[in-house]
Parts: sequence; C-alpha cells; structure tokens
Amino acid sequence: MHGIARHNRAPIRPQAPDARGEKGPQLNEQTLSMRLERVAVHVPAGARLADIGSDHGYLPVALMRRGAIAAAVAGEVALTPYHAANRTVCENGLDSQITVRLANGLAAIEPGDGITAVSICGMGGETIRDILDSGKAYLSGQERLILQPNGGEQPLRQWLMDNGYRILCEEVLRENRFDYEIIVAERAGPVIYTAEELYFGPVQMQARSPAFLSKWQRKLRQKHKTLSHFARAQQAVPEEKVQDIAREVRWITQLLA
Ligand SMILES: C[S@@+](CC[C@H](N)C(=O)[O-])C[C@H]1O[C@@H](n2cnc3c(N)ncnc32)[C@H](O)[C@@H]1O
Repeated sequence: MHGIARHNRAPIRPQAPDARGEKGPQLNEQTLSMRLERVAVHVPAGARLADIGSDHGYLPVALMRRGAIAAAVAGEVALTPYHAANRTVCENGLDSQITVRLANGLAAIEPGDGITAVSICGMGGETIRDILDSGKAYLSGQERLILQPNGGEQPLRQWLMDNGYRILCEEVLRENRFDYEIIVAERAGPVIYTAEELYFGPVQMQARSPAFLSKWQRKLRQKHKTLSHFARAQQAVPEEKVQDIAREVRWITQLLA
C-alpha cells in the first residue's frame, strides 16, 4: 500500500485498530473489508474479472476461492503490490485461474482473456477515469464496470455518461469512519444525467439510503464550515470558488429537504 493521500489511501489495513480503538479482524483474501465485500456483490456469477490496481489480489482471490468467478486477471502498475498479488495467488494454488500482470491500467487485459467484468477500486475517481480513458482500446464495451472511487465521483460519472455507460447500481457505505462509493455501469448507448445526478449519483438520488443521506449531512456541515472560513479569510478567496461551494450547499440542502 503506497500513498497516504485521501484518494489513494490504502483501504485494507491488516490488524489496524478500528475506529473505536479495538483490533479489527485481519483482512486478507479470506476476510475482505466490508468495502470489498460490497464490491464483490456486484461481480456477476461466473465472470471473467480484470481487477485493475489489485494490490494484494485479495478481491479476485477471494472470489475465486468462493467459486464465484471463472477466471481473473490481477493488474498492478507497481512492483511491490504486483509481487504481493503473485504471492496471494500462489499461496492459494490459483495460478492456473488467476493471471497477475505488471501493467499500467487496462493494458493488463489481453484479447484472449475474454474479460466480462472490470473492477477498479480504492483509488481517486479522477485516477479511475484516467485509467478508463487511456485504456478504452482494451475494452470490448461488453464488460460490466465495478468502480469504487475514494472521492472524485462526479468526474468519474461524467466520463461514464460521455462514453455511453449507464449507471446500474450505486452504493454508499461507511467503514473506519470513511464514506466509500461503489458505482456499477454497463455500456448501453447514449445516456443523459443532470448536473445534480452527476454530483450525487442518479441511482443514489432515487434510493436515498441512510448511508447516502448521512454522508451528505456530513458534507453539508463541512461545506458550511468552508464558507465561513472563506468569509473570515485574510486574503480574498476567488469569487468562482465561493460560488462553487455555495451552489453545492444549495444542492445538498435541497437534497436533504
Ligand atoms: C489503494 S490500492 C487499492 C487496492 C485494491 N484495489 C483495493 O481496493 O483494496 C491502489 C492500487 O492501485 C494501484 N494502481 C494505481 N494506479 C494504477 C494503474 N494505472 N494501473 C494499475 N494499478 C494501479 C496501486 O499500485 C495500488 O496497489
């Protein structure tokens, strides 16, 4: 796990104390984080999965151990996680079903793999968007995309809309005091989402789950704080920035009304 920024934060923390200071369960290919468990739910039974940015390879290995998928590719751009994924695959005796490749983004996918689902999880939404955009040539358009961005959901949804992907399912979940989103999409021809739908998620706006509403209540408090900091700032904050936050506050207030 390599990066400490919010968007690239390592989401699996073996033996880390949980939010209440107690020891959590050891997370590995047998015990996934709740976040990866929810991602796993959206992988179709019998899929041929490409898990891009697989790190230890926990997701494809867990799914294969459960007999939930037919085959997988675990793609990693960095050497240390690439070796870690190889180790997880070997230790579980899954070398013939899971191929680990050192590759940038979707370049891990080869035509003969017959991939039917692609998961890209635990990265910023912009990073996921860039991986999809620069790797379009590796997609047939038939794959289900299961994306779990850590922030940057709006630009990711924008990319999906611009590229003819319909958002089928969305989820918000809270784990270790972080809100995570899962976005599941499939290519289905032209689709139009409003600016608010791109911001909140079209499916989530309809479903209004308790986790979704709590997330936006927290966000609203943060944004009010930001606006009051702006008002007290020594140096004038650019008007455009103030207006952007003020618009978000209006949208969130309407959503929660
Ligand atoms: C924070 S980890 C997430 C691991 C796992 N997907 C999860 O959700 O628990 C992000 C991983 O993505 C990898 N990564 C980042 N950019 C990538 C890219 N362009 N192609 C392949 N892997 C990438 C990093 O090396 C890192 O191992």
